[in-house]
This record gives sequence, structure tokens and C-alpha cells, in this order.
Amino acid sequence: MKQEMMTIVTQRLLAPQIYEMTLTGELVKQMIVPGQFLHLKVPRADLLLRRPISINKIDHEKNECAIIYRVEGDGTDVLSQLQSGDKVDVMGPLGNGFPIEEVKEGEKILIIGGGIGIPPLYELSRQLVAKGAEIINIQGFRNRETIFFEEEFRELGEMHIATSDGSYGTEGYVCKILDTRLKDFTPDAIYACGANGMLKVVNDRFIDHPRAYLSLEARMACGMGACYACVCPKANSETDTMRVCKEGPIVATGEVAL
Ligand code: FES
Repeated sequence: MKQEMMTIVTQRLLAPQIYEMTLTGELVKQMIVPGQFLHLKVPRADLLLRRPISINKIDHEKNECAIIYRVEGDGTDVLSQLQSGDKVDVMGPLGNGFPIEEVKEGEKILIIGGGIGIPPLYELSRQLVAKGAEIINIQGFRNRETIFFEEEFRELGEMHIATSDGSYGTEGYVCKILDTRLKDFTPDAIYACGANGMLKVVNDRFIDHPRAYLSLEARMACGMGACYACVCPKANSETDTMRVCKEGPIVATGEVAL
């Protein structure tokens, strides 16, 4: 099992309830593929379940990685109070990650994200740009206050933002921007991460695309394929399931029932 007491380098608030934590440790060397996640133990005895948090950035030169998470309960609240120098028990990297081997220089790649599903798309974007691809990020947030990492994404390429209440960018959901932007081009590949409703839209729209991928969210316990807490039904079957933590979290469109 890949597990380590990693050291917190920095912890900062990015938006209300949204934190970025930078970690260092030997595990960073094993973080190669974008879209994988870390399973963090909350340092409080009564909180037994680890928290799965996707990797936002990998920096092999500094031997650091970053995660971005939203405080949603006691566990993430405790994590948000940790400070630089504190140690945290981390398992990972876990999950399959985004398939990017086929991406070639000059390809146009569409990346669609929503809210707290956006963090793994940053490392994905960085690696795609390093391969010479042209990326178009389309992101959805509830409102202006909840937006984070906008500048970082803009530095990498084209970027569009939609907010549900219209307080920033395009009013409405990401599909509104998709409708407009897809009039001009057909993406060579599509990657998406966000809430189920958004993934369903992307899944339906690109169901026949040979290189369209979704990163699924699921409640997890073990994070390593042993407990089946995270199973998701496969498409076109009443009995087949997949473990999001082990066979996922990344699936091709059309693979699971959303
Ligand atoms: Fe245990 Fe996925 S969380 S099998």
C-alpha cells in the first residue's frame, strides 16, 4: 500500500470554504497521471473514514503536490485547520487517471468542469499544454464568490466561465457556452469533471465520441477497491457495476449509467 505521513507545506483559503493544501513527501514521485486522487486520514480519532481528494497539481522539481477541497463537514473542517509543518496520513495516488497518451501536438481539447470538480482539471490542463495541445476550458460555478483558480487556468489557454446566478461570466450552465463554442470546432478529445447533472449532459452529448471522458464522484470508504462502497451501475446492464475508486474515477462516455 502506498501510504505516507506527508508534510503540509502551505494551506490557504481560495474562496469561501475552499482550501488549497500543498504537501511534500516521497509519494509525490509516484504522482504522474492527472486525475488521480489522494485518500487523507483526518487527524481526529472519532473520524475513521479517509477523505478522497483529487490531485490539483504535481511539482516533481519541488517534490510537492497540491489538493483543493471544500469544507463540507467535520472531517474537511479538521483538515482545513492544519498548518504548514503538520503531518497528514496520505494514501495514494489512487484511481486510474485521465488517459492522455493519445493526445498529439496541435489537437483541440475541450475541458469541462463544475465547482469542486474543477481541481484535477488543472493538472490535466498543464500536462495537455506541455504536449502542445490547444485547450479550451469551460467552467461552471454557483456565483462569483465561489470561483477559484481562474487566473491559473487563463494562463494555460482559452477559458470561459458560467455562473448560475449570472454574477460573473455567462449566466446559466456550462452547456450554454458549449452550444456557442461548439459551432466553431469539433474537439479531438473531451474531459469533464463535476456534479452528476453536468456529467450527464456531457455524457449524452459526446456519447459516440471515441475520446470523451468523465471523472466520476462517489462516496468512498477504503478507496482501494475492497469495500464496494463506491460502486456505480454500468450502462446497458441491470447487474454490472464498477468501483469508482479502482476502475475509475475516469470512465469513457457511455460506460456508466448516470
Ligand atoms: Fe471501497 Fe471503492 S471505496 S471499493
